[in-house]
Amino acid sequence: MEWTRGDLLGLEELDRAEIEMILDTAASFKEISSRPVKKVPTLRGRTIVLFFFEPSTRTRSSFELAAKRLSADSLNISTSTSALSKGETIKDTLRNIEAMQVDIIVIRHSSSGIPWALSRLVAPAIINAGDGCHEHPTQALLDMFTIKEKLGKIEGVNVTILGDIAHSRVARSNIWGLRKMGANVTVCGPRTLLPRDIEKMGVIVTDNLKDGLKNADVVNVLRIQRERQKAGLLPSLREYAQRFGISSEKLRQFARKDLLIMHPGPTNPGVEITPEVAESKTSVILEQVTNGVAVRMAVLYLVAQARDETKEEE
Ligand code: CP
Repeated sequence: MEWTRGDLLGLEELDRAEIEMILDTAASFKEISSRPVKKVPTLRGRTIVLFFFEPSTRTRSSFELAAKRLSADSLNISTSTSALSKGETIKDTLRNIEAMQVDIIVIRHSSSGIPWALSRLVAPAIINAGDGCHEHPTQALLDMFTIKEKLGKIEGVNVTILGDIAHSRVARSNIWGLRKMGANVTVCGPRTLLPRDIEKMGVIVTDNLKDGLKNADVVNVLRIQRERQKAGLLPSLREYAQRFGISSEKLRQFARKDLLIMHPGPTNPGVEITPEVAESKTSVILEQVTNGVAVRMAVLYLVAQARDETKEEE
């Protein structure tokens, strides 16, 4: 199979073979990051722009490291330090960036659909680093990579996604990806944070933590966004922690001993997960971060290669 997509906008549009190709490519890149000299010449001469309209630690840093480890040049642009702060539109800003002959634009934005709109406006490849509540494809890819690395497979694995499903781009991309890869997905959280009709995505739905954990091989704990409480969707963070927060005690009562604990970060210690669980033996939260670099190297490489082939054909 050949990778043909010149952008990575979401996992909804990918098929299983494409997801497998990204995961296999990431596996071959992972070893580079443990070498004393962490660099290969694969994308030498390419320019990658990181355009983040929302804060980020993990995604932005790992895309930048991925670009550097593939020998590409990278450039960071933020809202506060660019002409966006003087009122320039995002479209004009990107047209100007395009005029500097860049190859790939990695974008995070608070509005759902922005990466799709921009991919139709500018020539460089667009990679979605998180758009509103919609998709965060590279997060779901690194989550699946970590599950495969730890459990040897994704097909047939029982994954519970816990927390604010309604507002989570991580949940949505994970559901698309995991279902395509044959995992069984349960979503669990307070009714107010479970989207109506979510069953149509092929998942089991529960608002009971005990039911959510009883058959799980993996729990992916989502960050509780504090603004949800202000919007009246949560009675209090304390009550959320009591009913849905993952603690050693709840794991002892409801879960199998070797349940894999995942979290996309950043965590709210003591709300959705206790520090003890986040740092426990079965937590792979930092391994997810490590794998993020390999997965983003794979995505940059595949997208750049597809662009080269399209140009050669023209
Ligand atoms: N998981 C994630 O997207 O983290 P950042 O917001 O730090 O990039």
